[in-house]
Amino acid sequence: MTEVITENSIKVPQHVAIIMDGNGRWAQQRGKSRVAGHKSGVESVRTSVSTAIKQGIKALTLFAFSSENWQRPEQEVSVLMDLFMFVLTREVKKLHKNDVRFQVIGDVSRFSDKLQKKIKDSEDLTANNKGMVLSVAANYGGRWDIVNAAKIVAEKVANNTLSVDDITEDTLNEYTSLANLPELDLLIRTGGDFRISNFLLWQAAYAELYFTDTLWPDFDEEAFNAAINCFDQRERRFGQTGEQVKI
Ligand code: IPE
Ligand code: IPE
Ligand code: MG
Repeated sequence: MTEVITENSIKVPQHVAIIMDGNGRWAQQRGKSRVAGHKSGVESVRTSVSTAIKQGIKALTLFAFSSENWQRPEQEVSVLMDLFMFVLTREVKKLHKNDVRFQVIGDVSRFSDKLQKKIKDSEDLTANNKGMVLSVAANYGGRWDIVNAAKIVAEKVANNTLSVDDITEDTLNEYTSLANLPELDLLIRTGGDFRISNFLLWQAAYAELYFTDTLWPDFDEEAFNAAINCFDQRERRFGQTGEQVKI
């Protein structure tokens, strides 16, 4: 009998987040417009979702549009919005078929009514799915997330349903995005820069960070698996000593 070494014989992160960066440079290197890079990036989104499912990852969170990205040229922002709409329309049925629960995190109120409806419909369609949770961060900022949670907590204090002494990390956490998902294990950034760019500030407290020069449109299954293999090699100590965590 031949022994099958499955991909699961390594330690796989439960929750992975990705800062999908480098679309513009990928396009520019090919003499194309930045927008062409975003279009190519869509294929990498599809591949990363299927790779995550294959690997048994429970939650995948993708940074698609930051609260700072509104500052880009109007035409680029508009193409990104159209692309988001187009991809949702085309892909959500496939996500549903694969038992994926889809959600958007971020302040969606700034999007067009049409896009907001598309987001809501996609979330509703997949709401009861039990497979992987795919969260897309759109008009998302890590500071916004924390402020938003703080506002909810402050409201509860103001209407006397919570006392200040009872506020703990768990209280605040409950109102941040991704609260009901496993803790973030691995945060990947493509595109060669070493920064978080206001992504999951609260949630990344003990995530393993993985930076790669690979530009997002080139981030294929092999590149994703390399990040997962690298995670497998990490020793997570959570403040303890190496000896303690080896027990
Ligand atoms: C990431 O690629 C996609 C978004 C931020 C929407 P960029 O557009 O930031 O690509 P670079 O960093 O300019 O190459
Ligand atoms: C981060 O990329 C945001 C997304 C990938 C959606 P940016 O390209 O906006 O980040 P900065 O501006 O280089 O920090
Ligand atoms: Mg960038």
